[in-house]
Amino acid sequence: MQATAEIAERISTISVSSTLKVSADADRLRREGVDVIDFGAGEPDFPTPANIKRAAVEAIEQNFTKYTNAGGTPELREAICARHSADFGTGYSPSECLVTVGGKHAIFNLIQALVNPGDEVIIPVPYWVTYKDVVNYAGGVCVFVETDERNGFEVNAAMIERHLTARTKLVIINSPSNPSGSVLSKEEFRRIFELTSKRDIFLMTDECYCKFVYDGAPFSIAALPDAKETVVVAGSLSKTYAMTGWRIGFALAPAPLIGAMLKLQSHSTSNPTSIAQKAAVEAVHGPQDSVPLMLAEYRRRRDFVIERLRAIPGVSIAMPKGAFYAYPNVSVAYGGGIRNSLEFSSALLAQAHVAVVPGEAFGTNDHVRISYATSMHELERGLDRLDQFIGGLRS
Ligand SMILES: Cc1ncc(COP(=O)(O)O)c(C=O)c1O
Repeated sequence: MQATAEIAERISTISVSSTLKVSADADRLRREGVDVIDFGAGEPDFPTPANIKRAAVEAIEQNFTKYTNAGGTPELREAICARHSADFGTGYSPSECLVTVGGKHAIFNLIQALVNPGDEVIIPVPYWVTYKDVVNYAGGVCVFVETDERNGFEVNAAMIERHLTARTKLVIINSPSNPSGSVLSKEEFRRIFELTSKRDIFLMTDECYCKFVYDGAPFSIAALPDAKETVVVAGSLSKTYAMTGWRIGFALAPAPLIGAMLKLQSHSTSNPTSIAQKAAVEAVHGPQDSVPLMLAEYRRRRDFVIERLRAIPGVSIAMPKGAFYAYPNVSVAYGGGIRNSLEFSSALLAQAHVAVVPGEAFGTNDHVRISYATSMHELERGLDRLDQFIGGLRS
């Protein structure tokens, strides 16, 4: 028997994360000695703040190195609820909180715990790659809501309403958005909540980039009265505290749903790493001053990147209002040998040695994602190369 014939069918419903694939291709070239500029990775270039690292070292020295509660230590769950309450005015208790192995794990557990085969899940386009695969894995049906780049890819309640059916189980909102950087206004988010809550549809708010908003104060839709019944928060410490490798995320949701997720988690990962949990307590409970410093630096880079992209003839870009990604339309370069975002990204990496993520991964084909969570020096060099690459294709 061929090995592939033995692989379970449900695995064929998912594909390898394109964002991870780009990093792997860029890594391979780098190992071959090529000077690659990596705009693919969606992770802060800042080190984890020193107080957080110290908390982990202390945890090791104090032998906090054993199993913890599968759903996270009471201390961390308490601290996460307190942080969310201080930041956004929500009122979660530890029984409504689950600590997970990164935000991705929270989303995986949530969707597996909620979605039955045939249930419809509404996902605005462009979307973060993982939603689609995780919904497919659960046997759910992705219902994509197209947005317009001329409106900054913003989704609204009317667009979502047109896609609701008797089978709609969940609406996913990611604001600020990966990849487009679009940010929903509080009023529009409230309209979406009103739409879903009156039909008993769950609303998942992916707050991975919630602290990286360039205009106005961040908010959580979970702070609205009655929101706790149908809103589920997927949170992550990865980007907020430059902790991508520590793998700590969380979910805030009604206690029965948290219980269902915990059941699944107890048979898969068990607890998130004990040491990382101690570091996470310090992250959410300790000083928060690293966050506005990172945001100020991202804003500087965003302004630079957008200005440079807009100066490339034929390239258009909606101004990102949050997160640390630019999502330019590069279709001006299509024609000749390049027909889509995948071919564009491959040629850019092979010829100009710049790694970006093809828009195809996020559900649009005219765009590529540029992460500006990298130094100004690298941004300057990479944008020079991108400019020359596109110029060369057009001439
Ligand atoms: C929109 C979004 N949600 C969730 C995550 C998950 O982050 P992590 O699993 O690293 O905590 C990411 C990571 O890139 C993301 O972009």
